Amino acid sequence: MSTHPWWQTTVIYQIYPRSFQDTTGNGIGDLPGITMRMEYLADTLGIGAIWISPFYPSPMADFGYDVSDYTDINPMFGTINDFDDLVGAAHRRGLKVIIDWVPNHSSDEHPWFVESRSSRDNPKRDWYTWRDPKPDGSPPNNWLSFFGGSAWEFDEATGQYYLHSFLTKQPDLNWRNPEVQEAMFEGLQFWLDRDVDGFRIDVAHVIMKDPDLRDNPRVPDGWERKFKSHGEYDEFLHIHDKGHPDNHQLFRDFRALLDSYQPERFSVGEIHIPDWDEWAGYYGEDLDELHQPFNFSLVHSAWDVEEIASRVEAQESAIPDGAWPNYVLGNHDEKRLTERYGAAAARAAAMLLLTLRGTPTLYYGDEIAMTEADIAPEDQQDPWGRNLPGAGRDGCRTPMQWDGSEHAGFSPAATATTWLPVTDDYSQRNVATQLDDPTSMLSLYRALLAYRKGSPALQTGAYRRVEAPAGVYAYERGDSVLVALNMTGEPVAVSFPGTVALSTQGDGATTKLLRPNEGLIIEL
Ligand code: GLC
Repeated sequence: MSTHPWWQTTVIYQIYPRSFQDTTGNGIGDLPGITMRMEYLADTLGIGAIWISPFYPSPMADFGYDVSDYTDINPMFGTINDFDDLVGAAHRRGLKVIIDWVPNHSSDEHPWFVESRSSRDNPKRDWYTWRDPKPDGSPPNNWLSFFGGSAWEFDEATGQYYLHSFLTKQPDLNWRNPEVQEAMFEGLQFWLDRDVDGFRIDVAHVIMKDPDLRDNPRVPDGWERKFKSHGEYDEFLHIHDKGHPDNHQLFRDFRALLDSYQPERFSVGEIHIPDWDEWAGYYGEDLDELHQPFNFSLVHSAWDVEEIASRVEAQESAIPDGAWPNYVLGNHDEKRLTERYGAAAARAAAMLLLTLRGTPTLYYGDEIAMTEADIAPEDQQDPWGRNLPGAGRDGCRTPMQWDGSEHAGFSPAATATTWLPVTDDYSQRNVATQLDDPTSMLSLYRALLAYRKGSPALQTGAYRRVEAPAGVYAYERGDSVLVALNMTGEPVAVSFPGTVALSTQGDGATTKLLRPNEGLIIEL
C-alpha cells in the first residue's frame, strides 16, 4: 500500500463547467452534464479527481469568477441536489471532487457588497476596501486592475473609491476584517460538509495587500516580464498589491480548517509568483499552508529541452522537505497547449505531464488535442479580451467535442447556439472518433494514464535527469523507469538500456532511435 495521500498519486482533470456538457439545450454546460460524463472521466479516461471551475450564482461578468453567493449553485448550472448527485456519482467511481473557491473578490451584486456600498456607516462597509479620493479627486493610489485601467472605482453615492484587482464588478474583499474571514470560512464548511474533497483557490496570492496601500514602483530599466503580456499593468512592480506576507497566516488558518475534516481534504492555490522561493513559501514552513501552490512554469516555457528541464529542476530544489511537486500544462486562462507548444509536440507534452514527479493537472479537451479557437474581436465574450485586444481567453474555453453530431454532442441537437462556437474541426476531432482509433491522442492519454496508475515508479519515484543527445530530454523515475522525449522534429539516434513500454508514436519504437517528436517510457 502506498503511504502517499491520494492527492499526490492522483491526476486532476479541470472542467470548465460552461463548456463540458449541456443537458438543457441553453448552449451552456451544467452539473448534470458533468454527472452524465462521469463514466468517461473515471473509466474511459481514467483520471482520479476533477476540479470544477466556479458554478456559483453569479452575474457572469467574469464567467463565474464573480460570485454573488458562496453557498449555492447558479440555476444555469443546476441545483444543490444536482451538485450532491454529482459528488455521489463521482465518489461511487472513486473520483475526488475539487471545487473552485474565489476568496479575493466577490461580485458587486453579492448582498455583502450591496450593503457595503449603501452607506459609509453600514456595518459591512469595511468588508471591502473603501478609501477617499486624493485631494484632486484621483484614486487613492496607483494600483492597476489586472484586466486594465485603475484598480479603483469611484462610487458617486458615498463619495469614495473601492478596490477591485480585477473587473469593477469584482470588488476585493477586505480580509483584514475578521468578520470577512469568518463568513468566508463558513462558506468553506458548507461545501466540506457536502463532502467535497478539496479546493482550488483563485488568485490565492492576491488576497492580502499592503495595509498602507502604498503605490507600486515602476519597473526598472531592463526588467524582463515573466508572464504573458498584461499591457500597462506590466509597467509596475506589483510588490504592494499582491503577495503580502500576511497571506501565510490566512493559509495556516485555512489549512487548520481543512485538516479538521476526515478523510483528508486537499488545497491547491493559483499562485503566480516567478520567484521560486517565494512561491514555495506557500507550502508553509511546516507544510501547514497549501498542499500545493499551482506550478505554472511549464505553461510559460518554450518547448525546449533546457528550458523545460531547468524549470523541472528549479521546482524540485525549491520545494521544502516533504512537499509534493505539481505540473500544469493548460487551463481556462491560457492558450491551448497545441498552440503554445505546437501541434507536433502535443503527444510528447502529454507524456511529459504524466511522467514527471508530482501531481499533474490536465485541462479538459487537451486529451483530444483540442485547438485554440480563433474568436473574432467583435465576438469576444471574455471581458479581458474586450479590454485588451489579444488577451481574450475564449479560444481555450470552447465546448468539449464529444462526437461528430450537431454541436459536437456538447448541446442537444435542437439547441440554437452554444455560448462559444464549437471549433471547426470537431467532426474529425472528437471523443467518439478518437476512441475507435488506437493512434489517436485520446488513446495515448488513456494508455499513459493507465500506465501511470499501475506504476509506483511514475507515481512516486524520485526524478533524476540522465544524459541524452541534444534535443532529447531524458529522466529516470525511481530506479525502474526511464522517460525519453525527442523535443525536435528530427529523428535522433540514442542508446538507452531497457525495453520500450510505451511510445507516443505507436508501433516500431526502439531504444536506439527516437523518431521525430517521439516520447518513450522505457522499463529498465
Ligand atoms: C483567476 C482565474 C481567472 C479569473 C481571475 C479573476 O486568474 O483563473 O479566470 O478571471 O482569477 O477571478
